[in-house]
Amino acid sequence: MVTALASPRIGGAPIFLRICRRPLDDSRAAVHDRRVSTPQSGIFALGTASHAYLEFDARNRETPQELVGAIASLREPRTTMGGVNLVAGFRPELWRNLVPEDMPHGLEGFNHDVLGRDGYTMPATQHDAVLWISGSAYDVVFDTARGAIVALDASASVAEETSSWPYRHDRDLTGFIDGTENPSLIEAPEFAVIPDGIPGAGGTILLLQKWSHDAGAWEGLPVARQEQVIGRRKDDSVELDDKPAESHVARTDQDQFGKIFRRNMPYGTVTDHGTMFVGFSAEQRPLTAMLENMAGLTDGIRDELTVYTTPLTGAYYFVPSTQSLRRWGAI
Ligand code: HEM
Repeated sequence: MVTALASPRIGGAPIFLRICRRPLDDSRAAVHDRRVSTPQSGIFALGTASHAYLEFDARNRETPQELVGAIASLREPRTTMGGVNLVAGFRPELWRNLVPEDMPHGLEGFNHDVLGRDGYTMPATQHDAVLWISGSAYDVVFDTARGAIVALDASASVAEETSSWPYRHDRDLTGFIDGTENPSLIEAPEFAVIPDGIPGAGGTILLLQKWSHDAGAWEGLPVARQEQVIGRRKDDSVELDDKPAESHVARTDQDQFGKIFRRNMPYGTVTDHGTMFVGFSAEQRPLTAMLENMAGLTDGIRDELTVYTTPLTGAYYFVPSTQSLRRWGAI
């Protein structure tokens, strides 16, 4: 059954069309069974100047197909201002319930706080779904985000909303270059995308964490001290030869934990801002291991960056392949 929705018109442009509530017919199932699994393209769409992250709670957790169907039916507007990228992810337990055969083994939501030494806590604030919308300018992102909220209203409510924008090309709001050790776009799928032949193929695991910065305390440090905290030089991001064990890059060393693909973005206002940590991996373990090591759980050494930044949220989402998501939407 296809239910026609009143197309929400935001800024004059019809954005979303229909929600499909019918099971797969044979031809669509056959398309899926060809096992072509491609990741959602927005994950790798670099260079966009504006971002919004919307996290949703399902209105009825007993019927996850409603939320998944509504999200899979969202359409990206193409305008003269440039299009937008939509990346959609789901609480692992919700997706497992609905599509167990497309679920990476052992993947779990951020269901418990990460508890470090001396009461240090990274809070678990898991929600049911996430939309990451990115585009060339905030107006198209804004319109698309509003349209999405309207289109999903029957099945989900917004639990968290964050708007982000790049700062000085590729720096985060500590002033350091962020992403230096990221794999290149050619290499990134190897580390971020689940390979064909195993459950969840073409999908990826997203860790989304909003970190508030204590700008006053950070800016009160001399640059040489900031460089010790990060483990890299501020100007050109060259790694320090003698970086301290508590420096951020020592605590998240990818030679130790495996490579991940980060799409971090600054967020916030002049007086209240920080970093949206957006990390993708083909396996959950590198992400959880990095968090545990930052919290000092492995060897008692806590990441010094956590003295100046505080995690406000924490959630894992399974971001299914394009084909897997499309099965649930209106074509
Ligand atoms: C306030 C939050 C954060 C800020 C401002 C931040 C900033 C940075 C900066 C400036 C670098 C050095 C340049 C680079 O290679 O990108 C870096 C490296 C890195 N960060 Fe973060 N980061 C934050 C949180 C996290 C979290 C939560 C994780 C993991 C769960 C993480 C994982 C990494 C990794 C894997 C590297 C590269 C390490 C290597 O050299 O192999 N970061 N980060």
